[in-house]
Amino acid sequence: MPNVIVVGTQWGDEGKGKVVDVLSRHADAVVRFQGGNNAGHTLVVDGEQLVLHLLPSGILRDNCTCVVGNGVVVDPRVMLDEIRELEGRGRTITPRQLVVSAQAHIIMPYHLALDRLREEAKGAKRIGTTCRGIGPTYEDKVARRGVVICDLLDADRLRSKLEAIVPEKNRMLVDWYGDEPLDVEKMVADYIELGEVLAPFVSDSVGLLHSIQRRAGSILFEGAQGTFLDVDHGTYPFVTSSNTVAGAACAGSGVGPTAIDEVVGIAKAYTTRVGAGAFPTEDLGELGERLRRVGSEFGATTGRPRRCGWFDVPLVRQAARINGLTRIAMTKLDVLSGLASIPVCVAYEGHVDGFPASLDAVTPVYEELPGWSEDISKCRQVSELPADCLRYVAHLEELIGVPVELVSVGPGREDTIVRGDLFTR
Ligand code: GDP
Ligand code: IMO
Ligand code: MG
Repeated sequence: MPNVIVVGTQWGDEGKGKVVDVLSRHADAVVRFQGGNNAGHTLVVDGEQLVLHLLPSGILRDNCTCVVGNGVVVDPRVMLDEIRELEGRGRTITPRQLVVSAQAHIIMPYHLALDRLREEAKGAKRIGTTCRGIGPTYEDKVARRGVVICDLLDADRLRSKLEAIVPEKNRMLVDWYGDEPLDVEKMVADYIELGEVLAPFVSDSVGLLHSIQRRAGSILFEGAQGTFLDVDHGTYPFVTSSNTVAGAACAGSGVGPTAIDEVVGIAKAYTTRVGAGAFPTEDLGELGERLRRVGSEFGATTGRPRRCGWFDVPLVRQAARINGLTRIAMTKLDVLSGLASIPVCVAYEGHVDGFPASLDAVTPVYEELPGWSEDISKCRQVSELPADCLRYVAHLEELIGVPVELVSVGPGREDTIVRGDLFTR
């Protein structure tokens, strides 16, 4: 298999984890390159569900090394919990299977506190973050005062960094938010202990990825969140604090753009969003509620109900441009079974060319496509899909201008219909 970037084309939760798990059968490495444990990627293998927040979705495959790249922000406790959960399920995670970049930034206790306090202070204007400390950690990275993984391997170095950072954070926590101050020595002790457990996994991730390239191996880059949560291209300020688009895979892993062969966009057959912000095709009525119920649309990280609505062609077409998509994998098509007709947003009123700078006030133009009544969750071949279901996919494919080469009809690894060669190579 070539080197492939997988990204979400909407607002996250498109089914990236499932598709990466399917694709990873042919990969030598699966790399997370941005975000942190704000992500929740669900795998269902042999009927058993696993939700990954930080470890790449190749972790169930013996052929894959999973890499947490330099662009990821790491909460060491979450990483250890995830390793232990897998061990509890009988899967030992060795340093050959998991490699963590020494340059990845650490989510510290003050980041968690500030994320929560800022959201509380915003009240009704809150972003609806996952409160995992993601934004404050990226802020400190860009401000050049972040703590990186290799700082956890040297107590003196960590103490000296924290002595410079924590007094300022405490002023903010105590004087501005009226919260409790944090203690440097306790933090040093806790994080050095975490560093000791993580140390065997920390190594030269760039070197590893380049050695795979040299022997013509294949690397799968696993995006988190979605294109419209990207800090540059998303519905700002209701976005996450990293670049989620395909372009970020290179910077966040240390692999050059010339190594990338394919970019696969994951698109849900309808649209969902968690948290606040524009959502032109949101359906606040009974049908939106039906999508939530049938699609089990509740956040894999926070358990919040996801907002639900219809497929938005201009949105995914814009994602195709920004990410340079070469193929699309369409997920959750099974959830649409039983609808008499299916609305699809084919344009925004008054925006014939180009994409609007803001989605806040756009009015979707809908086309109603015929639905299908059959349960498609047992279909494994394109030829088994009902004609109207095929027409739905073909119509979206034509409007977006990128081939749909994988169709997912259920959460399980096997609930997958492959059309293109990419997924079988
Ligand atoms: P991710 O964040 O993009 O990896 O997606 P999530 O795991 O957060 O959310 C996708 C949800 O849909 C998970 O519960 C998956 O198990 C489930 N899922 C994925 N593909 C399908 C599908 O084709 N049909 C159905 N019914 N569920 C799916
Ligand atoms: P996966 O990888 C869906 C949303 C949050 C909030 C905004 C900012 O599972 O698709 P943050 O905690 O990142 O500062 O929150 O981004 N968000 C996601 N929504 N799926 C995700 O990840 C998300 N990660 C963050 O709900 O609106
Ligand atoms: Mg998710």
